[in-house]
Amino acid sequence: MEFSQQLAAGQARIEEALAACVQRFPAHGQLKEAMGYSLLSGGKRIRPVLVLEVCRLFGGEMEPALPFACALEMVHTYSLIHDDLPCMDDDDLRRGKPTCHKVYGEALAVLAGDGLLTEAFAVLSGAELSPEQVCRGTACLAKAAGPAGMVGGQVLDLLGEGKALDYQEIIAIESLKTGCMIEAAARLGAIAAGSTQAQEDAAAAYARKIGLAFQIRDDVLDVMGDEVELGKPIGSDQEKEKSTFVALKGVEACQGLIQSLTQEAVEQLQPYPGSEFLCSLARQLASRTK
Ligand code: IPE
Ligand code: IPE
Ligand code: MG
Ligand code: MG
Ligand code: MG
Repeated sequence: MEFSQQLAAGQARIEEALAACVQRFPAHGQLKEAMGYSLLSGGKRIRPVLVLEVCRLFGGEMEPALPFACALEMVHTYSLIHDDLPCMDDDDLRRGKPTCHKVYGEALAVLAGDGLLTEAFAVLSGAELSPEQVCRGTACLAKAAGPAGMVGGQVLDLLGEGKALDYQEIIAIESLKTGCMIEAAARLGAIAAGSTQAQEDAAAAYARKIGLAFQIRDDVLDVMGDEVELGKPIGSDQEKEKSTFVALKGVEACQGLIQSLTQEAVEQLQPYPGSEFLCSLARQLASRTK
């Protein structure tokens, strides 16, 4: 199958599985509506696609990995809802629509995020895999999403506003806030496949590289992107005086860094036959426009 077809097939399967998750959310006031509004609003689904494709690379079946993929996307969506709140990045547009707090108010947006975060672990725990795989998946997602990962990175991101951080400090922020969740995607796929530790670590090394490249590209698009195509505001980082690679080095240097990280990512997968899709994905993400 051609790359774009394979990507579209994975995305479609994930949309279907996420829609089924939303159906099962309990309705208290507008909570289910707010959770579903953000979860089913057309994200690129890069992280869950990674779960499924790493699982496939290591010989696993896609269906049993779907709860892992959905759980990760639910945690990611919660992180976006909270990231957009007035107390954080204060953005009004996400995935081409008004942000959750603009539609449902701040209190419900906080709670919709809380709901997605906790429900994610319920979904993950329902995976029809061995108890050991479910346990390892739970630990992996919790670590990536929490203070040692995304939440920690978000704190450093906020602390970095208005400051001139150095190269290493910015790498640390971007790796934590974005890289950890993308690394978790690869690890979850490997765990679902019952891979060896060496296979999981190779996929994780690939994902750390593309995760950092992904956030640097996000920073570039905040300057050069098209708001309609991107589905979120541009210029938000500059307005908030975020300490990003673009602010430190400029767009051109960022593209160079993205290219070298992508090349290094692809090299991690060379020992594994069948890694063409993941290599193409890394290259496509390096020049993405949304
Ligand atoms: C946005 O992630 C936040 C970052 C970590 C850069 P995505 O660019 O994957 O957003 P969606 O899920 O496609 O909306
Ligand atoms: C956010 O980074 C990463 C998250 C953990 C949500 P950004 O704040 O740059 O993401 P966008 O640009 O709002 O999507
Ligand atoms: Mg942010
Ligand atoms: Mg933001
Ligand atoms: Mg951004």
